Amino acid sequence: MRLTFIGGGNMASALIGGLIRTGWDPSVMRVVEIDAAQRARLAQSFGVEPHADIAAGVAGAECIVLAVKPQQLAGVARALATCLPDALVVTIAAGIRVSDLSRWLGGYRRIVRAMPNTPALVLAGITGLYAPAEVSAAERAYAQRILAAAGATLWVEDESLMDAVTAVSGSGPAYVFYFIEALERAAFELGFNDADAQRLALHTFAGAVKLAQESTDTPAQLRARVTSKGGTTERALEVLEHEGARAGFVRAVHAAAERSRELGEALGREPADAQDGGR
Ligand SMILES: NC(=O)c1ccc[n+]([C@@H]2O[C@H](COP(=O)([O-])OP(=O)(O)OC[C@H]3O[C@@H](n4cnc5c(N)ncnc54)[C@H](OP(=O)(O)O)[C@@H]3O)[C@@H](O)[C@H]2O)c1
Repeated sequence: MRLTFIGGGNMASALIGGLIRTGWDPSVMRVVEIDAAQRARLAQSFGVEPHADIAAGVAGAECIVLAVKPQQLAGVARALATCLPDALVVTIAAGIRVSDLSRWLGGYRRIVRAMPNTPALVLAGITGLYAPAEVSAAERAYAQRILAAAGATLWVEDESLMDAVTAVSGSGPAYVFYFIEALERAAFELGFNDADAQRLALHTFAGAVKLAQESTDTPAQLRARVTSKGGTTERALEVLEHEGARAGFVRAVHAAAERSRELGEALGREPADAQDGGR
């Protein structure tokens, strides 16, 4: 399938790099990018065909991936609506709902909405996917193959769950960095220099994640196994429970989902407001 990316920034570059690594032919890929230096970089690094003009870039495309910033998407979609070929449209813009994108595309509904996360940049992401009923099973499979180039994928059947995806895996890497920072700080306070504290914290997280992924036990079982009665881990976990760490963390993720809903409303409203002169 001929594939065009609109927006050739970090995420598009990660996806193109991942696709080529998994055997896709760069000659089927085009990128529409407004920045000339970035166009040259994309052509040089990946051998994809760069375009400045959207109509020329999407002509004959069978799939179009929208990879511009959410705030840029309404303008891009309105421009695309005037030259849209018979193609599947995949959007990776955070927060933009299918109904809003569809409106900007003049009612077009063959849209897959994807929400990747930053580890996609090192091909270790997880992407939530949603498609309305107008998208065929073959088109869903095609969209999934594109996002799978940057890591794991997970379909949701109800679009409102994309706010939950945003709160859990979209914002999730930041929570993990926060825990790593906290463990690093504790290691520093207990006598290690910065470099060693960071090394201890990072390897502990990486090792625990690998163990949890490869084990048939649940994380709760793995935790119970290292928590001996009267031991050091038990003492630490008692402090965490007493401080309300788990409940606070769960509340934090709920708050992120709520904020995602609010931002989705605002991002979908903005262009209509602009059309009305901001009323
Ligand atoms: N990075 C992540 O981990 C991540 C995670 C989840 C979702 N996403 C979503 O992925 C999307 C892309 O993110 P990103 O980090 O890749 O952003 P980015 O690096 O800023 O990439 C967007 C690119 O599109 C270009 N562009 C802007 N307007 C354009 C137009 N009209 N026509 C063609 N190209 C245009 C931008 O050029 P200028 O820089 O000159 O404006 C930039 O090079 C965002 O919607 C974001 O919400 C990203």
